[in-house]
Amino acid sequence: MDSRISARTLSGALGGWRTREPAYEALADGIRLLCLDNRLAPRTALPAERELAAALGVSRTTVAAAYRSLRDTTHIESTRGSGSVTLPLRRADPGREDAAHGTIDLQQASPPAWPGLAGVFAETAAAATSLVARVGYDIVGRSELRARIAEHYARRGVPTSPDEILVTTGAQSAIHLLATVLLGRGDRVLVETPTYPHAADALRQAGARLVGVPVTTSDGWDLDRAEQAFARTLPVLAYLMPDFQNPTGRTMTAEDRHVMVTAAERVGCTLVLDETTADLDIDRGESAAAFHAAQPGSIVRIGSLGKTVWGGLRIGWIRAEAPLIRRLVAARSTHELGTPEFEQCVAAALFPRMDEIVAQRSAFLRLGRDALVQALESALPGWQVPRVAGGVSLWVGLDAPLSAALVMEARGRGVLLSAGPRFSVDGGHDRHLRIPFTAAPELLTRAVAGLAESWERVRGDSPRHFEARWEAVV
Ligand SMILES: Cc1ncc(COP(=O)(O)O)c(C=O)c1O
Repeated sequence: MDSRISARTLSGALGGWRTREPAYEALADGIRLLCLDNRLAPRTALPAERELAAALGVSRTTVAAAYRSLRDTTHIESTRGSGSVTLPLRRADPGREDAAHGTIDLQQASPPAWPGLAGVFAETAAAATSLVARVGYDIVGRSELRARIAEHYARRGVPTSPDEILVTTGAQSAIHLLATVLLGRGDRVLVETPTYPHAADALRQAGARLVGVPVTTSDGWDLDRAEQAFARTLPVLAYLMPDFQNPTGRTMTAEDRHVMVTAAERVGCTLVLDETTADLDIDRGESAAAFHAAQPGSIVRIGSLGKTVWGGLRIGWIRAEAPLIRRLVAARSTHELGTPEFEQCVAAALFPRMDEIVAQRSAFLRLGRDALVQALESALPGWQVPRVAGGVSLWVGLDAPLSAALVMEARGRGVLLSAGPRFSVDGGHDRHLRIPFTAAPELLTRAVAGLAESWERVRGDSPRHFEARWEAVV
């Protein structure tokens, strides 16, 4: 059966959609972006015009015109009696697979594999006879790999034993598993805004109500807001990215960490630290301050080889106290039966070479970051381009709240990005754009050239009086 989305849910997902005139085109763009980000599945029935108009506080004519525009671009079809339904994206739409047509896909911040990886695959394959004689997957993780991950933590000043490690299929499945085990419906979860959207989706799906704490590229974490949010909303869990936060690239200071852990412990909140990007230290500055918890069990860590080595490996993990690891293992099999052993063997062989891997990563990402900064500063001088010391992306400030319109326009030129509101917890961020620097410098330079053309077009479409009005309300 086809699914349907209520007017209230759609209105929430659209967030600050009203970013340009005419309003019906801005609304249509908002719905297109939800389709493109896969947040509106194909064959989802949209609300009736009258209901959506009421939920958004606009006239029915505006919604009718937006649906008409969506029909014209074949994003939806409407039939008498059954209303409007989203359609699968046309093949003609620019997509990841269209590399041959010159599409530059920057929707995901996925660096290419570490160059030595194919060699490690080959070595592992050569010794795979005994491996394929086994079941080939396991729910906790191979003891050899858990020992290597535990040593990795010990080297970073976090003494760990292998029974405090659970190997997962990437960090995303770690987030999902923690959310399902630790959260109940209606529980509050504190998250940064902007944040990593797939984590926010997993937390919401587990029933969480998200409470956003702002992080900016210029000032980092808003500690006052964080303390208030902990004290007033009593979150069960806080999901944070302390090192090279995705998307801002900011790293917490020692004071930030102290405030977060103290405020969380005061209300009995578990801090889930996603350290997927923690080793992506481009400028190789001072090593990040450590998180120290006074109470056992109040910090859970997530890690992954997805950015340091390759996303295709699908190796991630959770570090937590042994009793929680046991609870997670018990809950896991309803969702998946474990992580493939072949990839785990590859991962175990990679850990002894981690210094070399991290150095290569740093050099690769430096080239991307520097090329992107330079291209943006020369082509789009009105934008705020932050300085970041590591991570995977720039969280760029636009000189008008037109991120969604820009992303739509740029798609037509073959530059695929996610708009700022995708990273927001409670709407907004239409003045921002995340641009990953995980692609090759020449692609990034081409992407910026496309963005500059799109920006001129989008700004031209946007009457000044409308922007002034918008600025007054955000
Ligand atoms: C902060 C963060 N957490 C988790 C993930 C998901 O990682 P994985 O590929 O290991 O599932 C990503 C990937 O972009 C990420 O940036």
